[in-house]
Amino acid sequence: MAKDLNYVCTECGATHSKWSGRCDACGAWNTIQEEAPLTAGPGAKALGAHRGRKIALTDLASTPEAPPRTMSGVAELDRVLGGGLVAASALLVGGDPGIGKSTLLLQAAARFGRNRLKVIYVTGEESAAQVQMRAQRLGLTDSPVTLAAETNLRDILTTLDAERPDLVIIDSIQTMWSDKVEAAPGSVSQVRTAAHELTTFAKTRGIAVIMVGHVTKEGTLAGPRVVEHMVDCVLYFEGERGHQFRILRAHKNRFGPADEIGVFEMTGRGLAEVKNPSALFLSERDTATPGSVVFAGIEGTRPILCEIQALVSPAQPGQTRRSVVGWDGGRLAMILAVLESRCGISFAGLDVYLNVAGGLRIGEPAADLAVAAALISAREDAALPVDCAIFGEISLSGAVRPVAQLENRLKEAAKLGFTQAILPQRPKRRAGTEMAAGLDLREMRDLPGFVDT
Ligand code: TYD
Ligand code: MG
Repeated sequence: MAKDLNYVCTECGATHSKWSGRCDACGAWNTIQEEAPLTAGPGAKALGAHRGRKIALTDLASTPEAPPRTMSGVAELDRVLGGGLVAASALLVGGDPGIGKSTLLLQAAARFGRNRLKVIYVTGEESAAQVQMRAQRLGLTDSPVTLAAETNLRDILTTLDAERPDLVIIDSIQTMWSDKVEAAPGSVSQVRTAAHELTTFAKTRGIAVIMVGHVTKEGTLAGPRVVEHMVDCVLYFEGERGHQFRILRAHKNRFGPADEIGVFEMTGRGLAEVKNPSALFLSERDTATPGSVVFAGIEGTRPILCEIQALVSPAQPGQTRRSVVGWDGGRLAMILAVLESRCGISFAGLDVYLNVAGGLRIGEPAADLAVAAALISAREDAALPVDCAIFGEISLSGAVRPVAQLENRLKEAAKLGFTQAILPQRPKRRAGTEMAAGLDLREMRDLPGFVDT
């Protein structure tokens, strides 16, 4: 019988009946790979033995206990996990190669080991000796962690079944291969099968599993996207290679808030926690500079102040550039359009560069007003006061809209020595109650009003 081949997108996991250069589902280019179909086991067509038993939701009330959690003791990690590692959960830690995933997980393994979890660290990328050397460099040699250098999934599962650890770390999922499928390690079918087998095994045996997944743009390795919906938590480790800051961000978390971040610093002895990220993100800022604005943002449950920098320069005729690092390019285009049509401030014929300092990536629309301020400041070559924090969302009409967690933003600004804040107009009933002690508040109703002041 001729084998039917599937074509699968490595970005989103969508299946197609034929190959094409672009995935219809997610729009990514060059991500479609050939994949052998999953082979069904014997008797797959026969009806099962009532395994999919139904349970009324109300019957579950007898087991309302929260799953047990273990803290690593690294506050930045525990918070991103939603308050520690949940027993028998499956996690994916994604990130660019070389960003520090193995370092982070070896350090986490050591911490969990010291907190009396039985931890096995399976590496498919390095030899056990290499991991040992790294542990030595990180000062973790006395930690109770078992190492295994192995890529064959069947062998790994056999070991896990015998050892029954509490936590297993798989570094990385792209190097693992299962003999159930005929594809090469790193292909979509292998990554998917390996992740599925590991997750199911871990869940049935009560083992927590953390899988490392490399994100590559080349498409030679399957993107960990196909694994995202199988696991309970997806954490991404981000940062600029040239910067020492690393941000661990929860994209999905079944046991806690998503969008929570943990901030780390890569040092000569591994990753160090950053307890006060605002101070760090603003550390290189001391004098008032045109185009530089401090945005009082919220990441997850925590306020974070960061610097937004804009630069405006005359463009080459016929080729204006818009370049953004750390923010959404579409959102920048929108702010530029609002500035032009509502305030008469045109950026035509000008190159615009926008950068969020420190390698932070902002997703909040609350940064709109700060971005607008940075753009105007850069264009007019006029600096804003150094001790002024800004936040507020801008609508297409040019109105400045209120944002969530006003108080927390102002408190953080006050804590860091800021004396002024520009913010959306507060609702009437709260306008009188002074929230942030010592801050001089300037409330904005719309963008033209902001430009006039
Ligand atoms: P690594 O954890 O191997 O990255 P990944 O697993 O995501 O591919 O980290 C590799 C980088 O981290 C490497 O360029 C060196 C740097 N590094 C330090 O700066 N300090 C350290 O203590 C360690 C262990 C690594
Ligand atoms: Mg690694």
